[in-house]
Amino acid sequence: MILLHLQDEVQTLLRPDVPRHGALIAWKQSLHQLSEPDHERTDAYPMTAAPAVLSAVQAEALNKTYGTGDAAVHPLKDLSVSFPAAKFTAVMGPSGSGKSTLMHVLAGLDVPDSGSVVVGGTQLTGLSDNQLTKVRRENIGFVFQAYNLVPSMTARENILLPSALGGQAVDRDFLAAVLERLGLTDRLGHRPFELSGGQQQRVAVARALVARPSVIFADEPTGNLDQTTGAEVLRLLRAAVDEFGQTVIMVTHDVNAAAQADRTVLLADGRVVDTLDQPSAADLAAVMVEVAA
Ligand SMILES: Nc1ncnc2c1ncn2[C@@H]1O[C@H](COP(=O)(O)OP(=O)(O)O)[C@@H](O)[C@H]1O
Ligand SMILES: [Mg+2]
Repeated sequence: MILLHLQDEVQTLLRPDVPRHGALIAWKQSLHQLSEPDHERTDAYPMTAAPAVLSAVQAEALNKTYGTGDAAVHPLKDLSVSFPAAKFTAVMGPSGSGKSTLMHVLAGLDVPDSGSVVVGGTQLTGLSDNQLTKVRRENIGFVFQAYNLVPSMTARENILLPSALGGQAVDRDFLAAVLERLGLTDRLGHRPFELSGGQQQRVAVARALVARPSVIFADEPTGNLDQTTGAEVLRLLRAAVDEFGQTVIMVTHDVNAAAQADRTVLLADGRVVDTLDQPSAADLAAVMVEVAA
């Protein structure tokens, strides 16, 4: 079935390291068919999370190197970290400390040279591409630093993409609430090039939320937003944890954004150097000065 081939193509399009290509017209028709039926809601918002003591994401001894010889960089150095389920964790650290690389590796979008990643009880290492795609589709939402929207698709189609790929019915009330809170209701027919950076980021946030994955990774989701919209995005991520039991892992440079999280993991030079529980913005500002020194 054409949809199956296109699923892989779209997954590839959503990878941060792969240039965008290809026409998706046939796939878009399938998307319309998938998203049109008005599915009955049979349950209230289900709690997907296990008790908070369990890890939603666990990484052991990750190493990642780019390039070789003198040009080699080593953004992950024997890095071990775990992220408790149904908690909101911020990841902070100086520019170049490996935050984006870590997020891509944890989400199965990039492969470590060594070490292991377990997401929702499934070890990603050693999975075939198809198996990895399935785990990603069923468990993981990702908000990229560079949005990574599909250029030929409207905002609405981009937002419905993960649900369509996973064959899931979209909860229309939830979708409407997310769109309203992100101020996207009147932008749904626009393509990415017709949207500002902030609007594209909001579409990317909505895309990560509506399929209700158990884990949402967000790489500087508020970096390009004005203060009001940034605050709304943080509230939505907070609500994903508090109301829906999802796990959120968010890279940010903003100590006020990180202070909304339950805990902050601090990276420096490819390693975890500190983990802070419920830090204030002032606590975080102080440790950020230390790691930058
Ligand atoms: N695809 C890549 N090819 C080569 N070097 C890369 C690539 N991605 C990241 N790097 C390098 O790895 C280091 C860590 O990058 P990154 O994880 O993006 O850091 P951060 O998100 O903390 O700013 C940087 O030195 C960066 O230049
Ligand atoms: Mg980064």
